Amino acid sequence: MKIGVFDSGIGGLSVVKSMLEHSLFEEIVYYGDTARVPYGTKDKNTIIRYGIEAIEFFKNFELDLIIVACNTVSAYALKEMRDISNCHIIGVVEAGILACNNSLQDKNSNILIIGTKATVNSKAYEIGLNKNGFKNLYAKATGLFVPLVEEEIFSGAILDETFKHYFKDIKQNPHALILGCTHFPLLKDELQTYFGKDTKLIHSGEAIVEQLQNQFKLSKKHKNPKLRFFASENPDALKKIANKWLKLN
Ligand code: DGL
Repeated sequence: MKIGVFDSGIGGLSVVKSMLEHSLFEEIVYYGDTARVPYGTKDKNTIIRYGIEAIEFFKNFELDLIIVACNTVSAYALKEMRDISNCHIIGVVEAGILACNNSLQDKNSNILIIGTKATVNSKAYEIGLNKNGFKNLYAKATGLFVPLVEEEIFSGAILDETFKHYFKDIKQNPHALILGCTHFPLLKDELQTYFGKDTKLIHSGEAIVEQLQNQFKLSKKHKNPKLRFFASENPDALKKIANKWLKLN
């Protein structure tokens, strides 16, 4: 299968990483809209327009499937993107909810959802988690994590201060922390240290693998998939980061 993976920037590489670990696809075309990141501060109509433009970009490749590896776009634009595309389009919010279901037995668990402002305002996670019986939900927009990750700031004083800024009012550590933005798994070690080992970190990367395996009956392993990386601005920088994170060299 030949797939497209789309994010506002480099965060979607966290989803590509999970896919590569499971050797699911023969070709992956990645597109990061680095010229316009962050999306999470934009309004609904702009996010939908960017989503539609990503579909236009992917029309140059004959893809079987597009993964919207961006929670912000997944929360607002999947319908409009599907309306203009003739290939399957899958978002990451559903996978994040599946991941939560898979890893939390207790429906009374305290769950903290972090994401961009747009994702948090959409309440996409709360709606999905409520449907699955989870009730103790608290969401916090932590949008500054996006530019930090884009700057490759994964630890140190600035990040520590940002954690304090967002989390200082949290009195009791949650049982689970949902990383509702694909940039955030790149901060997972630091988040785990901050919240402690009793807080379970959940992100959609692993669950999307399971969802795709089930939905498309993917059994064949593709050990050396063809990978292509595109960006709306400075593609060389994106390629460099992809090579580093995905350990391609
Ligand atoms: N990585 C994206 C997400 O999952 C978007 C971050 C942004 O551009 O604000 O929401």
